[in-house]
Amino acid sequence: MNVKKFGKTGVLVSELCLGTMTFGWQTNEDAAFKIMTSFNEEKGNFIDTANVYSSGHSEQIVGKWLAANNREEMFVATKVRFRTAEHPNGVGLSRKHILYSIRQSLQRLNTDYIDLLQVHAWDPLTPLEETFRTLNTIVEDGLVRYIGVSNFRAWQFEKALQICRANGWNEPVSLQPNYNLLTRAVEFELLPMAHADEIAVLPWSPLAGGILSGKYRNGIMNAPKGTRIGDSSAPENYSRFDNERTERVLSVLEKISQETGKSIPQISLNWLLCNRDITSPIIGVRTIDQLEDNLGSTGWSLNETQIRELNNASELAVTYPYDQRAEDQQTRDRIL
Ligand SMILES: NC(=O)c1ccc[n+]([C@@H]2O[C@H](COP(=O)([O-])OP(=O)(O)OC[C@H]3O[C@@H](n4cnc5c(N)ncnc54)[C@H](OP(=O)(O)O)[C@@H]3O)[C@@H](O)[C@H]2O)c1
Repeated sequence: MNVKKFGKTGVLVSELCLGTMTFGWQTNEDAAFKIMTSFNEEKGNFIDTANVYSSGHSEQIVGKWLAANNREEMFVATKVRFRTAEHPNGVGLSRKHILYSIRQSLQRLNTDYIDLLQVHAWDPLTPLEETFRTLNTIVEDGLVRYIGVSNFRAWQFEKALQICRANGWNEPVSLQPNYNLLTRAVEFELLPMAHADEIAVLPWSPLAGGILSGKYRNGIMNAPKGTRIGDSSAPENYSRFDNERTERVLSVLEKISQETGKSIPQISLNWLLCNRDITSPIIGVRTIDQLEDNLGSTGWSLNETQIRELNNASELAVTYPYDQRAEDQQTRDRIL
């Protein structure tokens, strides 16, 4: 694996980040250890978790592994925002909840600092000033190296950025959005914003929860047991992907798989790796075999025709004012 510059910072991270949402859920501690070790042996240094994954168990597993390995070599990201306790303040981005959560995360991760603390999502109740002043204090206190944001809209991210700049606070340097061949709306506002502000972009669910591995060709609603959708208590949450566009994308993936000899997950991930606005897709795996398959997405590139075919098959309808984008891009390419 190669390394990428982490947005405008001086840090270098592996071009794939290892997501740990399955740890302590579908992946037990033993398997998770093997997955982290193998990822690290392939030069992966970037791990993403969250305070709420498996009710904190994911952070614990990562922490146990870090204690037995070279913690300093790794770039460890976690998150805060969602509910950690049933009382009214056990959720959100208030100073109270963030300071509680960071202590818990540090303890579970077995470390005295976190490389990247990400706001997991927007909190409609807490003023941005309260959240980002608190995050700045945590960085100043040495508990966190960088601040990031997940699931914000572009105006929310920009507002946070401007508040930090106006106050001389440490500003968010990364964005973690849902982005893959089936979920491309981030291309309208968030990616151009990240490009302009040199923000690191870390796509989550790069295989759309497994759909872009091609394993649900018999219909998402007929998902077999032993898969994320087949085991889900609410498979209907994925029914929005049960459509002609998904079929079209999977057909093109299959065709390119035959042309290149690469697996369908590798091609889906490589489509993200070929995008220069992307820093590191966050891969999710249940097994070591899936990890090995997904690591094979690096070290080669789709050609321009293949990228165009995938773009066309997955294209979203573009309406005003986003239809200006192509024109802006042409102007930029001409002048810069
Ligand atoms: N910020 C956020 O709100 C947010 C939300 C979600 C996730 N995330 C982060 O993003 C990470 C990745 O998300 P994700 O797990 O949804 O990613 P994903 O890549 O879209 O889906 C991963 C799932 O696809 C299946 N899979 C993966 N590789 C495969 C392969 N080579 N062949 C066949 N099946 C394969 C596995 O599911 P099965 O084997 O069970 O079918 C695996 O658990 C998470 O771990 C987390 O760190 C963040």
